[in-house]
Amino acid sequence: MKILSAINASRCVLTLLKPNKTSIIIRITQQRNLMSKQLVYDQFGDPLHVVKFRESEVPALGPTDVLVRMLAAPVNPADINTIQGKYPVKVSLPSIPGNEGVGSVVDIGKNVKGISKSSKVILNRSLMGTWRDYAVLPEESLLVVPDDLGNVEAATISVNPCTAYRMLMDFVPLQAGDVVIQNGGNSACGQYVIQICKAWGVKTVNIVRDRPDIAKLKEYLQNLGATYVLTEEELRSTQIFKDGLKKPLLALNCVGGKSSSQLFRYLNDKGVMVTYGGMSREPVIVPTSAFIFKDMKCEGFWMTAWNHAAPATEKDKMIKDIISLMVSKQVKAPIHKMIKFDNFEEALKNAVSPQGFTGCKFILDFC
Ligand SMILES: NC(=O)c1ccc[n+]([C@@H]2O[C@H](COP(=O)([O-])OP(=O)(O)OC[C@H]3O[C@@H](n4cnc5c(N)ncnc54)[C@H](OP(=O)(O)O)[C@@H]3O)[C@@H](O)[C@H]2O)c1
Repeated sequence: MKILSAINASRCVLTLLKPNKTSIIIRITQQRNLMSKQLVYDQFGDPLHVVKFRESEVPALGPTDVLVRMLAAPVNPADINTIQGKYPVKVSLPSIPGNEGVGSVVDIGKNVKGISKSSKVILNRSLMGTWRDYAVLPEESLLVVPDDLGNVEAATISVNPCTAYRMLMDFVPLQAGDVVIQNGGNSACGQYVIQICKAWGVKTVNIVRDRPDIAKLKEYLQNLGATYVLTEEELRSTQIFKDGLKKPLLALNCVGGKSSSQLFRYLNDKGVMVTYGGMSREPVIVPTSAFIFKDMKCEGFWMTAWNHAAPATEKDKMIKDIISLMVSKQVKAPIHKMIKFDNFEEALKNAVSPQGFTGCKFILDFC
């Protein structure tokens, strides 16, 4: 038999000529596979240069895989540092960025037991590549969250709220009425510290950098539950501790440099300063005498390391506690701006700014 004609790649019509000169027409409807829009980088460097947009065919679903339609995923400092090749965890290239996010389940493999179609899911592992609209992910990398958990809260739950929660739980036994001091009080992590402390009855002294609209920022953070919001300059001459506020036993530092020296200055004897970020790119400088005569400590915290070491039961408890605070509206998402996925460059531009002052967390919106 001879092929006489074939037209159209997707709706193929084959005309076959039989030896007796009669012909048969066969219509083949060829289905185009689902495509995923995704960001990808194949070299480390400036995110604005190395991160590219591509469309890629969604792979077939394995028996224990789940097809997820991503709804939202934040752009965090750690995502930027990973793309720059400056983060301690090195990824193999090419790589899809994005450590956390929320999605909705579209389909499940035949052996998937704990997840059903339409469930709302978050990632319980880092580096799974959330900056894409569709992803095929192993069932064990996903965690079902309640439908009434907000999309932004769910998309940002694994990094900042967990970091805030751990730092408040693991270094100093805090009681209601105790005081925590932190810099970067307006960071996403800082906003979670404020809200969790409020829910637990712990007071917070929150240090932020001065800016033209400082009154608005102070009001916002106070409405979240901040006890005090001071600029770096105001902290230097503050009277709040002389006026009766207990000195903090815990300081949380995500800035470094002079800002961390100031936090340390206000810590109580035997207090602990936990460093979890270095936004100023300056080293932490603390006085020698504080270690010798006041028994003060400087420690570091890294959520990734905690996640690797912690037993599943502790992780479950932490996530349940945080979800419960969110669903009961005691804790809400940080100030944010949703950016349509097609405009991802806007989110990257703001997130890479070394001066900061971006004013919000940028969240990729796949809806
Ligand atoms: N160790 C961990 O496991 C862990 C987990 C989560 C986050 N982090 C770290 O915590 C930090 C905050 O993360 P995030 O997601 O909460 O960030 P974010 O929402 O983007 O906030 C960034 C914060 O850094 C401040 N900032 C930016 N540039 C600065 C500069 N040049 N000097 C001083 N302050 C500057 C910002 O203040 P302005 O508004 O004044 O710019 C803001 O308070 C990052 O360093 C991140 O890597 C660490």
